[in-house]
Amino acid sequence: MGSITIRNVSKTFGEAKVIPNIDLEINDGEFVVFVGPSGCGKSTLLRLIAGLEDVSGGQILIDGKDVTEAAPAERGLAMVFQSYALYPHMSVRNNIAFPLKMANMDQALINKKVEGAAKVLNLTDYLDRRPGQLSGGQRQRVAIGRAIVREPSAFLFDEPLSNLDAALRGTMRLEISDLHYQLKTTMVYVTHDQIEAMTMADKIVVLNRGNIEQVGSPLELYKSPRNLFVAGFIGSPRMNLIEGDYARSKNAKTVGIRPEHLLPSKQSGLWRGTVTVAEHLGADTFLHANVDGLGPITARVDGEFGVKHGETVYLTPDESKLHRFDDKGLALGPALTGA
Ligand SMILES: Nc1ncnc2c1ncn2[C@@H]1O[C@H](COP(=O)(O)OP(=O)(O)O)[C@@H](O)[C@H]1O
Ligand SMILES: [Mg+2]
Repeated sequence: MGSITIRNVSKTFGEAKVIPNIDLEINDGEFVVFVGPSGCGKSTLLRLIAGLEDVSGGQILIDGKDVTEAAPAERGLAMVFQSYALYPHMSVRNNIAFPLKMANMDQALINKKVEGAAKVLNLTDYLDRRPGQLSGGQRQRVAIGRAIVREPSAFLFDEPLSNLDAALRGTMRLEISDLHYQLKTTMVYVTHDQIEAMTMADKIVVLNRGNIEQVGSPLELYKSPRNLFVAGFIGSPRMNLIEGDYARSKNAKTVGIRPEHLLPSKQSGLWRGTVTVAEHLGADTFLHANVDGLGPITARVDGEFGVKHGETVYLTPDESKLHRFDDKGLALGPALTGA
């Protein structure tokens, strides 16, 4: 079991109120991602759950039991860091076995658990190597193996893939998702990368300045961001945010339209613009245009739509996909219903 309840939790460092007040429910077996810009309090919240920091107020419960005052080792959680924190002089086998040795577990049982973890992580052939003889991805898997053998009620990951190159991050995302599928253990995963959040999470928690902006599934956040912050943070390229006459005509302070919801044409359309940059990714092209009366707009168009810098392009928003926000930045109802 591994449900985690965060109840009225706050954290202050000296004068700085890093987490004003958080309430959050993490269900047993859920893959929950804390995402937000650097410095928003993601690691602090994770460290409060782990017991590596003391709360300034509130309670933390694991499986309904109050662990607010419990030491990290008593919480039954395992943390995996960005810096793998492996022992360079020890073999992979001994690195993974380390927490079990510390707990004086029987050697035969240790071997069984280490081999089991190695199998799940495709490390069986590397057990006798040292960390220095492994790739970055393999090292991170060893660090995860060391967490797995402890059979925690939840895994806590703090930006575990940040040190890897882009291709390897993509592979490791899949591996960690698959690991969650196999183990079905609660995972709480911190990242600043909204793509990791979108691709891995059952539930995303968007944090900003120590506050929760929104909690929901990836598609809920994509389809119905409840404010401008979430609208701008989730989705890549970012949602276009438009103020002025066009927004007023939709009875909103700000109107948002995602790049993938703009139809391009070389002949005609609602908006006329001049291409500033066309980023050709192959399947897609990210078209950056300066639109008359609106300013810079990004559209995600088919890779076959050939345009170059300086050319004229027409863009037409799919108005069924508009997002509207009031003067406080809060989402209004669907655009077509008016207000
Ligand atoms: N031990 C500490 N002492 C003082 N300030 C801290 C400490 N740890 C974190 N902070 C501050 O708390 C804020 C949130 O930090 P952190 O949780 O590490 O953010 P994130 O992980 O989202 O990048 C930052 O402004 C950071 O400087
Ligand atoms: Mg951090």
